[in-house]
Amino acid sequence: MTTSDTQTPTSVREPNEFGYRSFTLGEFLFSRDEYFAYVTWPTGRHVMSADAFLRAMQRDVAWEFFYGIVNFDGVLGTMNHYGTVDLFAGRYNDAFRKAELDHVETIDTQIIRDVFAAILADWTNESFDPFASPEETGSAFGPKKGDNIAAITRHRVTARRMVSLPGDEPLRDDSNGHPVNRMFADVAQDEPEVHAEPGFEDEVGSFSLFAYLSRSPVTWNPSVVSVCRDSLYCPTTEEYILPIIHGNDRAEWFVQLSDEIIWDVEDRDTGRKRAKVIMKAGDVAAMPSDIRHQGYSPKRSMLLVWENASLKIPELISSGKFPTQPVEF
Ligand code: PHB
Ligand code: FE
Repeated sequence: MTTSDTQTPTSVREPNEFGYRSFTLGEFLFSRDEYFAYVTWPTGRHVMSADAFLRAMQRDVAWEFFYGIVNFDGVLGTMNHYGTVDLFAGRYNDAFRKAELDHVETIDTQIIRDVFAAILADWTNESFDPFASPEETGSAFGPKKGDNIAAITRHRVTARRMVSLPGDEPLRDDSNGHPVNRMFADVAQDEPEVHAEPGFEDEVGSFSLFAYLSRSPVTWNPSVVSVCRDSLYCPTTEEYILPIIHGNDRAEWFVQLSDEIIWDVEDRDTGRKRAKVIMKAGDVAAMPSDIRHQGYSPKRSMLLVWENASLKIPELISSGKFPTQPVEF
């Protein structure tokens, strides 16, 4: 069943016996208790572990619904139409579709963003940071205790100029930036030498991306570090499991900069298994536009995600004008 109403009604209920509020978005109801997040819709209901739910919700909110589909798991998720967002249950799940138990609502981005941000704020306890690796944060569980607004609203460090030039952000400096992560203690911290022609000292720069990433305090949160027209370089540090299963609406390139990530690759629309990709340092992979994927990083690793941000691509692919594979071998 599908409804489309960009004036989606929303409501917030008083805290339950565990201290958490419940939220409605159209015909979806979100509630939580000490261990679980519950989602109901007219034809079904779903349950997720509270920590996994909050980690997924954190990405969906921080990334403004990202490219294509953000699956919280095999049932619940959002699809970005860049202005509106589909909130769905079972839509990309073969069994739910065949049983006609799936449900989709198309919602104005502003409305779903505000409700998702409110759920994230209310359900995240002071002990839990949804961006941190499990080893570097406390528990998501138990009755409501405080909040962690600073963690869930943190802004990614965005270089105002190319990193290393005067006026960049202080990510590389231990005194006012972030310390080197425990798992990157072996990453060299020396910087390249630059000998600029006189007069060009403020315009020629260079920095060690490895040293830079070794200080990232968050996991599974690509940051844009360079932009060349629609080409975005988005490196990130990864540990444990990508909290979402990302359904692509365009091809993405991955360059494994260090260590190892195991990717589960499935058909985007049905969830049928397609591939298991093990990427070791130096490996490059192109993820096609008709898949969804989830990564597992046994040790903190560095990954470069290369995106083409053109707004024209989803339509070129869905109309068949662009191939789903970015390269033919
Ligand atoms: C992806 O969906 O391609 C993705 C998302 C977040 C990451 C890495 C990859 O940290
Ligand atoms: Fe992806």
